[in-house]
Amino acid sequence: MRVHKGILLAGGSGSRLAPTTAVISKQLMPIYDKPMVYYPLCTLMEAGIRDILVITTPRDQQAFATLLQDGSQWGLALSYAVQERPEGIAQALLIGRHFLGGCPVALILGDNLFYGDAMAMSLGAAAQRAHGATVFGYQVADPQRYGVLAFDERGRITDIVEKPPLPPSNYAVTGLYFYDHQAPLLAQELRPSSRGELEITDLNLAYLRSGQLFLERLERGIAWLDAGTHNALLDAALFIRVVEERQGLKIACPEETAYRQGFIDKSQLAEQAHALRHSSYGRYLASLLE
Ligand code: G1P
Repeated sequence: MRVHKGILLAGGSGSRLAPTTAVISKQLMPIYDKPMVYYPLCTLMEAGIRDILVITTPRDQQAFATLLQDGSQWGLALSYAVQERPEGIAQALLIGRHFLGGCPVALILGDNLFYGDAMAMSLGAAAQRAHGATVFGYQVADPQRYGVLAFDERGRITDIVEKPPLPPSNYAVTGLYFYDHQAPLLAQELRPSSRGELEITDLNLAYLRSGQLFLERLERGIAWLDAGTHNALLDAALFIRVVEERQGLKIACPEETAYRQGFIDKSQLAEQAHALRHSSYGRYLASLLE
């Protein structure tokens, strides 16, 4: 089985968070104690993915590269590409086509946060599937904001509708997608939607129509948050603070994830801890060594 590569899409318009995003991509802004982009990066790492393309706006590419570097400090291989204009999530697969070189891919949006032990099982199941595409469904109270799944009476997916005024279910499609090698080819066939974007929902529908779309349901106990609106951004920060302070453990700390996944060893973790020793973040890393 071929190992999945990762694409982290940290571009997008961020226009719903204007005027804040006039000077900085939202994915560089903090969710409580660390940059937003750390959260989806750690989700890819938890899926065992180490070779990752980070797609940014032209303006902020340098800032992302300064923050994340080449990834070797976390046992990763990070490379960078630019999305010139916010022309849709599916465009990431066209931008990343050469990077992928026929490998399967996990694509994650830079503003999506997943939390919970049970994530590991869903990620594992998706990563093991050799063919087709996997989407992750999550029950939400406000499905209108998302791509929404429609099911038949046996619980099979019949449709996916992007931001429907009358949602066919409460199951949103989250911003994490696993695709086989066909994804760039299928993305090439897509036409821009009425909002001028290559819609990821249309790509997922292409897989659905050929009977190759799989669903992982993220059950209660897993938190899926996005930071697409001002309220969602604040809610996410508060959620992370409450859980981290209560347990004294950090969520989405790439140094820790890399260490636990065996991507880096103890001496490399110690190096990272030392570099950040004047912050509470660095002291947390040092505490992991004890
Ligand atoms: C995008 C997708 C949507 C998905 C959502 C998850 O929405 O188009 O299907 O449910 O991400 O965050 P957008 O960020 O473009 O509003």
